[in-house]
Amino acid sequence: MTEAMRKTASTARRAAAEGIVMLENKNGALPLKRREKVAIFGRAQIDYNAGGTGSGGSVNTEYQTDILSALENSGVSLNKELADFYRDWVLKNPVSEGGGMWASRPLFQEEPELDDDFVKKTAETSDTAIVVIGRSSGEEQDSFFGKGGWLLTDTELNTLRAVRAYFKKVIVLLNVPAVIDTSRAEALEIDALLYIWQGGQEGGEAVADVLCGVSPSGRLTDTIARSYQDYPSAAGYDEGNKIYYKEDIFVGYRYFETFCPEKVLYPFGFGLSYTEFKISCRSAVIAGGEIKLNAAVKNTGAAVGKEVVQVYAEPPECALPRPKLTLIEFAKTRSLRPGEEQELEIKFPLSRLSYYDDRNLCYKADKGTYRLILAKNVRDRSAVVRFELYKDEIFRRCRSLAAPREPFSRLCGFDENGPLFEPAPIRKTALRRENPPAEIKRPGRKKFMIKDVREGVVSVNEFVAPLSDKELACLCRGEGMNSRRVRPGTGTAFGGVSRGLRGLGVPVAAGTDGPSGLRFDNGDKATLVPIGTMLACSWNKKLVFDIYRRIGGEMRENDVDLLLGPGFNIHRNPLCGRNFEYFSEDPYVSGVIAASALNGLRTKHVCGTLKHIAANNREKDRKTSDSIISERALREIYLKPLEYAMELSKPEAIMTAYNAVNGEMCGSNYEMLTGIIRGEFGFKGMIMTDWWAGLGSASAPSKRDTAAMLRAGCDIYMVQKSPKANSGADNTLAALKNGSLTRGELQQAAKNILRLLLKLPCVERGK
Ligand code: BGC
Repeated sequence: MTEAMRKTASTARRAAAEGIVMLENKNGALPLKRREKVAIFGRAQIDYNAGGTGSGGSVNTEYQTDILSALENSGVSLNKELADFYRDWVLKNPVSEGGGMWASRPLFQEEPELDDDFVKKTAETSDTAIVVIGRSSGEEQDSFFGKGGWLLTDTELNTLRAVRAYFKKVIVLLNVPAVIDTSRAEALEIDALLYIWQGGQEGGEAVADVLCGVSPSGRLTDTIARSYQDYPSAAGYDEGNKIYYKEDIFVGYRYFETFCPEKVLYPFGFGLSYTEFKISCRSAVIAGGEIKLNAAVKNTGAAVGKEVVQVYAEPPECALPRPKLTLIEFAKTRSLRPGEEQELEIKFPLSRLSYYDDRNLCYKADKGTYRLILAKNVRDRSAVVRFELYKDEIFRRCRSLAAPREPFSRLCGFDENGPLFEPAPIRKTALRRENPPAEIKRPGRKKFMIKDVREGVVSVNEFVAPLSDKELACLCRGEGMNSRRVRPGTGTAFGGVSRGLRGLGVPVAAGTDGPSGLRFDNGDKATLVPIGTMLACSWNKKLVFDIYRRIGGEMRENDVDLLLGPGFNIHRNPLCGRNFEYFSEDPYVSGVIAASALNGLRTKHVCGTLKHIAANNREKDRKTSDSIISERALREIYLKPLEYAMELSKPEAIMTAYNAVNGEMCGSNYEMLTGIIRGEFGFKGMIMTDWWAGLGSASAPSKRDTAAMLRAGCDIYMVQKSPKANSGADNTLAALKNGSLTRGELQQAAKNILRLLLKLPCVERGK
């Protein structure tokens, strides 16, 4: 194990402990008391689910901790017979990988059938039962509404019923990638309930840390509803290729808190601790387009712990329907001792109060009385600051871009008969390819070296000008996977992928997944960190920064320049297979956590890739599905995390999603990429496709239509086996010939790629 890996592992343990969310703790059931006799059930105590499957997991680790051994090592007095029983049982019933193929691991693993007598006998020598329930999910593998997916299996339920009948105290640990059915806890009167998520290779230790006394400080980044059907995207979620985002901007708590709070089991932002806190507001200043709050947090309980101050905005009646509450900022305290207090300065721009008015095409905040609520979760109102906006504030005027082309209805309110819908505004005119970048004329035939650009002798423009069409087209193709030009086992090599380009000193950069640590296809080892959702549940920006700084250290050690992560799509529906990679149902949490990750990587002079832009919210048919979304929801929910990441970090690279948005595949979506992301948000970095993604119209996507990709402002196609030979038979050069792509557009993409290469360590490696 290398030095960098050792450092990542110890940060990962802290992060896993901080991401655990405790939802119930009746009569101080936790932490475990000294000499408390504990019996632990469920195979996931040994076969701990450390991460998701697919590209966002699949990190080869040196070791893996598990809950049972970690509790034993912490000195917890465990029921040995039961531990031996499970050890023996899992040996005889090994984990099924479902054939070992990509996306084939079952979502749940068989559990032993325990009869009542067995459980009763175990309870005779133990005070407390801990039951661990496990689930998996991953890329190309959504969960499902049924037993073993969203619902508990009969065996899991029987175990829970039996332990409830015979044990004084029952603690349930959910070792899951995303929210599952949590409603049984109430009926079964579970004493303590914790989402322990999937905590990476140190996850077992982190669980023991929390059960034995480290106060949980994780808070939900998603709403837990009473039933799956309560989620507004539930009906028809896995049906059809066109996915209509009918709930519009009302995703997660924006829906539940506005229209049906009674359907919520555990609200957004909720989480318990071993201690209590009091939050108050010391001062609030609104000046110069900025709001500055001074929050005081006091530990009023008897244990050490951390609290999260969440700031929600409650708007006045506005011209368009708005969620009752919107999270606009948060901050976490350090560890506070009983009686200790910390002041947190929380500041944010007034523009956080805005919404997208798709009638008047602008981001605005209507005049009226706003309330800023300092809270422990979306339901709490620890302190409320009122202020008046005397006139409508317009923050940005826009053109209508990437709007739906076909009529559909979207949610706009509720009355006594239920939800109300209105037609979503549809696109009136398509944005023409206006002002395509002009060609940079070649001054002569002389070519320059990359070294000349680095030394400031020539500009990137001057370097690009003399490159031939073939050289430019080649630069816009990534090679992979497992390219021999870079460190073995990585996802892509890009840059100097031909002898000609290398002759000019263009370096070859290595990119690899991903969101949970470095994934090497050749079996090489790296550190598996907690899943994205769990990192976000820590609500700790500094900790996420630290974890990614550590991942950056491992990248340097492995000659990896670009991380294919973090993922930050919105949790639209709890069954999406890749939710684990992503952070939250809320755009601000998603954006700020992503920005912290990028900032952490940058300390090691490597970069990350924000993915997947946009609306990759279902794995089923992900390469052909079309997300039909109103422009307002696209801007306020699905692209908003990127806008926040732009505000809080300067992302160098983004990856488009496999799916289409409003009729156009994401990798060639001109209005979304050039219109909104480059044009309005000011993104200057490199945009890449997802691996072997389809391009062009959603009705006939093609992997070869790189002309459509380049015209749209996406720079590099991922991936080809041999870029020089154009093994993917793309149409870049043909399009140049027939005039449907300009040399200026191709040069622009080449410049975006080169500018990124110049920032990466590969320049120093000289590859
Ligand atoms: C995934 C990406 C990943 C890429 C490379 C694709 O299947 O969707 O997220 O970065 O593979 O492994």
